[in-house]
Amino acid sequence: MATRLASSFWQQNVHLSIILPLSVLAFTFLILMHSTKFRLPTFFASCHSTIPSDDSIMQSVSRPDLRILVGVLTTADSYERRQLIRLAYSQQRGTYHHEEVDVRFVFCSLSKEEQHIIVALEIMQYNDIIILNCTENMNKGKTYDYFSSVPTLFRDHPHDYVMKCDDDTYLRLGNLVESLRNKSRVDVFYGLVNPCYRADDMDYRMNSSFMSGLGYLLSWDLTEWIAESEIARNNTEGPEDIVLASWLNTAKKGRNRYHNFPTFYDYKGESDETCFRHDFIPETIAIHMLKGNLEWARTLNYFNATKGLKPSHLYHV
Ligand SMILES: *[C@@H]1O[C@H](CO)[C@@H](O)[C@H](O)[C@H]1NC(C)=O
Ligand SMILES: *[C@@H]1O[C@H](CO)[C@@H](O)[C@H](O)[C@H]1NC(C)=O
Ligand SMILES: *[C@@H]1O[C@H](CO)[C@@H](O)[C@H](O)[C@H]1NC(C)=O
Ligand SMILES: *[C@@H]1O[C@H](CO)[C@@H](O)[C@H](O)[C@H]1NC(C)=O
Ligand SMILES: *[C@@H]1O[C@H](CO)[C@@H](O)[C@H](O)[C@H]1NC(C)=O
Repeated sequence: MATRLASSFWQQNVHLSIILPLSVLAFTFLILMHSTKFRLPTFFASCHSTIPSDDSIMQSVSRPDLRILVGVLTTADSYERRQLIRLAYSQQRGTYHHEEVDVRFVFCSLSKEEQHIIVALEIMQYNDIIILNCTENMNKGKTYDYFSSVPTLFRDHPHDYVMKCDDDTYLRLGNLVESLRNKSRVDVFYGLVNPCYRADDMDYRMNSSFMSGLGYLLSWDLTEWIAESEIARNNTEGPEDIVLASWLNTAKKGRNRYHNFPTFYDYKGESDETCFRHDFIPETIAIHMLKGNLEWARTLNYFNATKGLKPSHLYHV
């Protein structure tokens, strides 16, 4: 995905031979911006903040301040949803700078003839897909397969945090990064504890309860622990969020727990199924229950996703 490609380009593949001419170009570009009333085309305007200055080049070559892997658990057939999610995140370039957020779609082994071709084409175009060695399922260990595979799959590129989210959840990446900036980097379990469940017993909720499956995040050391733990390997079936928390609770892991209410919540919509649904807020980190295109569209509209659209006689939008 573009967010990831842009950052990994700077952080992994940049050689001085590329940086030097580019920085001269960037410098010229900045002078031009400051010295004229010249208005940038929208594309450049939206990402000019990532054009490196001399200072940020030094930082970009070294490890980013924070590396987050976000696995969006979905199914191979959800082509349209993946495209929508890619579009949604493409609008968030420039909301963070010295961090790397790698958003990937995660599903089990392909099972239909057409998937082998269409998914291959997607990978060639976007390179944002992880295919686990499993049979598609929701509560039969897919989350275990994901977290236990990550340390091996990314052995050469460890992250600080590994997140799991649903494909009806939208993350505000800049706010996510900001919320993690000063948090512990080890033994972290971060997400949303149901704010109504046993609301009078905060200790119970924080230490013995679970984070909602809409999206939660573990520090890298906990993914390594999951990959090796018999507690996890022996207990993979059941509601995935409850099961994952039970491993951590049993082993007294994830002692640094961060509960994010109201910035993690369910889309308001019509039903009042959950107690953590409310209106949009600017501080949103994760919004869930975006079941269809209309819910996505209203959410993206709230976050001004189409602000950069240029007028043209070719369309009326
Ligand atoms: C799936 O299994 C193959 C062969 O054993 C292995 O090379 C590959 O890394 C595995 N993929 C994942 C995502 O675990
Ligand atoms: C994070 O820590 C830095 C340095 O300790 C501090 O300057 C900054 O204000 C903190 N940011 C937040 C959001 O707490
Ligand atoms: C919950 O965890 C916190 C942090 O580890 C600890 O200080 C507190 O004593 C724990 N409470 C219970 C009831 O275990
Ligand atoms: C996991 O299962 C194996 C095989 O059934 C058993 O020998 C082992 O004791 C179990 N480990 C834990 C931690 O439950
Ligand atoms: C969207 O843009 C409007 C108008 O510029 C602004 O008032 C509002 O705060 C923006 N919303 C968000 C969530 O940034």
